[in-house]
Amino acid sequence: MAMSTQKINAAKGALRYLKDGMVVGLGSGTTAREFIFLLSERIKQGLDIEAVTTSLDSRFIAKSLGIKIVELDQVERIDLAVDGADLATKTALLKGGGGALTREKIVGYGAKTFLVIIDESKLRPKLSGRLVVEVVPFAYAFALKQLKDYSKDASVRMSSEKLGPTITDNGNFLIDVPMEIKDPEKIEHEINSIPGVVENGIFTKFSKIIVGLDNGFKEL
Ligand code: A5P
Repeated sequence: MAMSTQKINAAKGALRYLKDGMVVGLGSGTTAREFIFLLSERIKQGLDIEAVTTSLDSRFIAKSLGIKIVELDQVERIDLAVDGADLATKTALLKGGGGALTREKIVGYGAKTFLVIIDESKLRPKLSGRLVVEVVPFAYAFALKQLKDYSKDASVRMSSEKLGPTITDNGNFLIDVPMEIKDPEKIEHEINSIPGVVENGIFTKFSKIIVGLDNGFKEL
């Protein structure tokens, strides 16, 4: 069956965690979008929540669906964050394909409950793929040099719709580092200690992974 059905089913699995009065963190990407849409339906049926967003993309979508958006400094806590992933093992994720990793980590790690929603194709035995690193523009060449120690194929991500590098919602550059990550927690911290690195796409703290299936979902 279509991957989009699995994405919707994963999002449905996360809906059960919603309660009135919650502050909900909205993730980014096509799977998170399914959750945002389903959430807006619940709001129409009377659910009362406020949302913080992890990207301009999720902000635009939530706004267009009439979801009440608040800034991070206006909330005391985030009760529930729901976000997708590029790849997942049972204990770690790779995120940042859409370039939203920094806000995603702030909101996900800052939430009381952080649910990761994925289709079956994302679930892997090993964390091997594109590690995404957000860097301040001033530092990009020095950071790239150090990231080449992890993969000689590390490169600054270029924009497809404009000339030059991709600029994140925070005004930074992205460096893509294709590699296998054997010790996610160690590499997550090691990469963040490179001067100029803002955040990286290895996620090692989350509450649950909800995998969308062709009919239904399972929780890990
Ligand atoms: C955005 O930066 C990413 O971390 C997304 O959360 C991730 O790429 C998942 O997106 P899809 O649900 O579209 O695969």
